[in-house]
Amino acid sequence: MTALPFSQALDVVTQALRAGVSGHPVAGIESLERLRKSRAPAAELTGRRGADPGIPHPRRTESTVLSSAPSSLPKAPVVARVPVVADVAPGFHSLDALREAVSVCVKCPHLMASRTTTVFGIGNPRADLMFVGEAPGAEEDRAGEPFVGESGVLLTKMIVAMGFSRQEVYIANVLKCRPDMPSGASDNRRPTAREMAACLPYLREQIRFIAPKVIVATGAVAMEGLFGETGPIGKIRGRWHDFSGTPVMATYHPAYLLQSGTLSNKRKVWEDLLQVLERLNLPVSEKQRGFFLPKS
Ligand code: URA
Repeated sequence: MTALPFSQALDVVTQALRAGVSGHPVAGIESLERLRKSRAPAAELTGRRGADPGIPHPRRTESTVLSSAPSSLPKAPVVARVPVVADVAPGFHSLDALREAVSVCVKCPHLMASRTTTVFGIGNPRADLMFVGEAPGAEEDRAGEPFVGESGVLLTKMIVAMGFSRQEVYIANVLKCRPDMPSGASDNRRPTAREMAACLPYLREQIRFIAPKVIVATGAVAMEGLFGETGPIGKIRGRWHDFSGTPVMATYHPAYLLQSGTLSNKRKVWEDLLQVLERLNLPVSEKQRGFFLPKS
């Protein structure tokens, strides 16, 4: 890892202290604030373990439909054995500082142990358009970049059909680590609600820094990660949802299109993306408007 400037290193240390690592001290919120404000020496940190009573749970102020959500992926066969740590929004001073903190995240010890690397996000940090997926798969875990596998190829085609390059938009996932799988497994599991709650503060901060005009949430799990429990994706897609003031268009995950790539489903996704282009006040050509319509 490259040497960080002091303020970024402080963010990383603060994050590790807040989350707590087995055998190491956990700092209370007051101590963390003092550390941030006064650069207090480490000796002043409290040795208190566990959740600080002063730390509120992440709030779900976003509006969407409530009920349980199916995923294109199977339900989690692997259960988190070690508690994950959910906390408040980290409050980092830059996207790079946030990336560094994510790279050493210890909130989900089982994911920390199994990941090759964290997968933070890729693209234009000032993008108007942001895509949010569920979690890295095996290929993303190796590459450290979201959506580089088969689903990523399709997502990139969708982005290009909208008139953007992959570099012009921003792509991230709800989870920054690949959900752990038995050794050698190439398939993926659905992230658990606790894993998503632990990681949501990072995504929330990413969104705050990037400040996209529109977010596209790909699939039920991405929606659940952002909003808590949502309705079936078939019911909530094609509609606008509100994530702390940012409009979110829910649509099917590219993996679902790869599995059940009927013309009708492709058209549904495309119509969702046309709504996004309209929301961004971008011109839509006749050719674009006609994509995936049955030929008469
Ligand atoms: N599926 C996702 O939701 N995210 C990825 O990064 C890859 C596949």
